[in-house]
Amino acid sequence: MCGREGPRRGWGRCAPSPLLLLSLLASAAPLALLGEETRQVSLEAIPAGLDPPQNLLHIRAVGANSTLHYVWSTVGPPAVLLVATNTPHSALSVNWSLLLSPEPDGGLTVLPKDSIQFSSALVFTRLFEFDGANTSEATQPPGDPYPPYSLAKFSWNNITDSLDPATLSATFRGHPTDDPAGAFANGSLAFRVQAFPGSGRPAQPPRLLHSADTCQLEVALVGASPRGNRSLFGLEVATLGQGPACPLMQEQRSIDDEYAPAVFQLDQLLWGSLPSGFVQWRPVAFSQSQRGRESALPCRAAPPHFASAHLPQSPIVRAFFESHNNFCAFNLTFGASTGPGYWDAHYLSWSMLLGVGTPPVDALSPLVLGIMVAALGAPGLVLLAGGLFLLLGHRRWSEYQPIN
Ligand SMILES: *[C@@H]1O[C@H](CO)[C@@H](O)[C@H](O)[C@H]1NC(C)=O
Ligand SMILES: *[C@@H]1O[C@H](CO)[C@@H](O)[C@H](O)[C@H]1NC(C)=O
Ligand SMILES: *[C@@H]1O[C@H](CO)[C@@H](O)[C@H](O)[C@H]1NC(C)=O
Ligand SMILES: *[C@@H]1O[C@H](CO)[C@@H](O)[C@H](O)[C@H]1NC(C)=O
Ligand SMILES: *[C@@H]1O[C@H](CO)[C@@H](O)[C@H](O)[C@H]1NC(C)=O
Ligand SMILES: *[C@@H]1O[C@H](CO)[C@@H](O)[C@H](O)[C@H]1NC(C)=O
Ligand SMILES: *[C@@H]1O[C@H](CO)[C@@H](O)[C@H](O)[C@H]1NC(C)=O
Repeated sequence: MCGREGPRRGWGRCAPSPLLLLSLLASAAPLALLGEETRQVSLEAIPAGLDPPQNLLHIRAVGANSTLHYVWSTVGPPAVLLVATNTPHSALSVNWSLLLSPEPDGGLTVLPKDSIQFSSALVFTRLFEFDGANTSEATQPPGDPYPPYSLAKFSWNNITDSLDPATLSATFRGHPTDDPAGAFANGSLAFRVQAFPGSGRPAQPPRLLHSADTCQLEVALVGASPRGNRSLFGLEVATLGQGPACPLMQEQRSIDDEYAPAVFQLDQLLWGSLPSGFVQWRPVAFSQSQRGRESALPCRAAPPHFASAHLPQSPIVRAFFESHNNFCAFNLTFGASTGPGYWDAHYLSWSMLLGVGTPPVDALSPLVLGIMVAALGAPGLVLLAGGLFLLLGHRRWSEYQPIN
């Protein structure tokens, strides 16, 4: 079993059973995607004309009948708004003087308002550091916490300088405004954002399958001096609940495939019943820029819970959602006291996808299919897969289990 509460390392401890292999094969049949195959994607930094720069990055992904707007910003803590509309003509409107005022309500809008089908937000509120020297694996938090870094009190680069239209990417790079110990003298925390005109998979692990309906975030902590010899890091993420509940965190079994060797899970956060918005990630982070099995660390996620009181305000969330106040938050923690860690190279990276519609589902790679065909014989495999598809096809979504 690879249950979340068990001794899960996420990396190489458990193997999928033959039945799981076959059921995954069955669910590898093409899904009726509600999104669009390709989109015209454009990136634009919307300047406020102020110093220090106020970063607002607008990713607009236009399809035949819909437009997705991703608005990434470091006005306040790093945050992203995701707005899906049912027209190719919707537009973002920013009123900077309102957005930067103490009452930013209405400072960001997507027009026409009645074209909005889905909207939500993620806010990256705090970076945690724990002393992992003397902790066992199961403990939560994973060691004594050092004072956290509030990401609302970071200063960030000018996003315009890192905007790359060729790769549809941009990087927000920041360090604490107030850093008396000089921990970030040679270091930074970076949020690299990338959009995609179609589906595919990056060359670097964890090689998350993306589509034109998704946007990828890679968080990297590089070169910052840790406060202990065995520091573990964590990230607090806030989001908006839909209605009375927090978004659901789920764990999907995945297959040991050439795309993500030995990672058997895909974790996701769903804002509602599908299709809605989702966040998806593999429970793995890396301790070297050369990512591979040797540098893989487990990433644990705690389910979201209501947490309005202590969270720093995000002006862009307030500007778009106005008086919305049911914030939920969850923690991600990276690494364990044994195995590779941040201490190896003062490097930590983790990736996720944010999108709308049906989350991308890994199919078996041609290599693995080839091996299975060779092992089982093609006719037997086709018969088995066909039978299982009939049996399991309708259960595809009910196979998901909540993480908690
Ligand atoms: C950010 O960089 C762009 C391009 O280099 C420049 O035009 C702009 O003035 C900069 N903004 C600030 C606030 O420095
Ligand atoms: C877009 O809308 C038109 C007309 O409603 C429809 O015929 C077409 O199939 C839609 N295209 C997509 C990609 O959904
Ligand atoms: C921006 O908001 C302010 C305050 O509500 C308002 O006075 C101003 O006209 C708005 N600017 C634009 C361009 O809409
Ligand atoms: C580790 O924890 C145990 C039990 O809490 C304690 O006895 C031991 O001294 C600790 N070791 C270090 C190096 O802190
Ligand atoms: C930062 O880098 C410089 C030059 O490499 C080095 O002298 C200094 O000790 C480093 N500072 C920290 C806090 O690591
Ligand atoms: C870190 O390791 C060094 C050498 O092993 C040791 O002298 C030092 O006390 C350790 N520091 C902490 C904070 O544990
Ligand atoms: C995340 O972990 C820190 C440190 O253990 C804790 O103070 C904080 O409340 C946690 N946040 C959430 C949303 O659970």
